Amino acid sequence: VSDMLVDTFGRLHTYLRISLTERCNLRCQYCMPAEGVELTHSPHLLSQNEIIHLANLFVSSGVDKIRLTGGEPTIRKDIEEICLRLSTLKGLKTLAMTTNGITLARKLPKLKESGLSALNISLDTLIPAKFEFMTRRKGHERVIESINAAIDLGYNPVKVNCVVMRGFNDDEICDFVEWTREKPINVRFIEFMPFDGNVWNVKKLVPYSEMLDRVVKRFTGLKRIKDHPTDTAKNFTDGNFKVCLFGPSEVNLRDPLRCGVDDNELKEIIGAAVKRKTASHAGMFDIAKTPNRPMIHIGG
Ligand code: 5AD
Ligand code: SF4
Repeated sequence: VSDMLVDTFGRLHTYLRISLTERCNLRCQYCMPAEGVELTHSPHLLSQNEIIHLANLFVSSGVDKIRLTGGEPTIRKDIEEICLRLSTLKGLKTLAMTTNGITLARKLPKLKESGLSALNISLDTLIPAKFEFMTRRKGHERVIESINAAIDLGYNPVKVNCVVMRGFNDDEICDFVEWTREKPINVRFIEFMPFDGNVWNVKKLVPYSEMLDRVVKRFTGLKRIKDHPTDTAKNFTDGNFKVCLFGPSEVNLRDPLRCGVDDNELKEIIGAAVKRKTASHAGMFDIAKTPNRPMIHIGG
């Protein structure tokens, strides 16, 4: 293992997120405008072979967990093949996916056979009418079916991502917690973050401390479990390697790859980007003022 993935704070980055597509079958208000976003011309996106080539570089340098995101990753026609090729990279321990669960129930048995080992399914509300309002599409029932299918196939825990927004679903926090008592579900409440083209405003942000406060008041005896030291700070998008979700710095790996640059040079480019990472991002209020992009273009 080289030090390519060690930043200047001595942190080894072992977790990589790969955005497979910008396409999505939902139109969540917090992710993109109603009309959708202009899609990147497909020759600019990484091909399956390019994804595997780059992933192999990362895994051989210490990455042991890869998360597939998008857009909606299950929309990609070669998703099973990508899973199979990634899951067999030597040294990879976890192949995870973040999905909206709309078509997952049907595809999951094959994906599991292809080595998909962990699942995050996005669901912000337990009420179908609210789901339709937020995602501008139908499909609440199908997401629930997918969560149940994942449980039946043995994913444990099934992680459910819930973006909390004041006045929309902040009254459901405890209902979500209640749900985890019956099923092997791990709900992850996410602070609503500002991206270009979404409907962010500070009044809709429910801070972590307030979410916790609500849960603690209703459920006694909660215990803090130590988290895994992975973070959400690395993404591929449009062929770019993004080392911080909010940092302006991105590195294009696609073009050097297509120019025939060798693996040692690619590793130098990646290593230099990791070394530019700062200790932490600036915080929600500064982020709202900084140039940014829609979440769908960054990659979840
Ligand atoms: N704020 C917080 N979370 C968001 N996601 C998408 N946009 C936002 C936002 N503005 C979440 C999705 C998904 C994950 C990849 O990111 O709900 O669960
Ligand atoms: Fe699609 Fe996820 Fe964006 Fe919703 S948040 S529109 S499911 S990519």
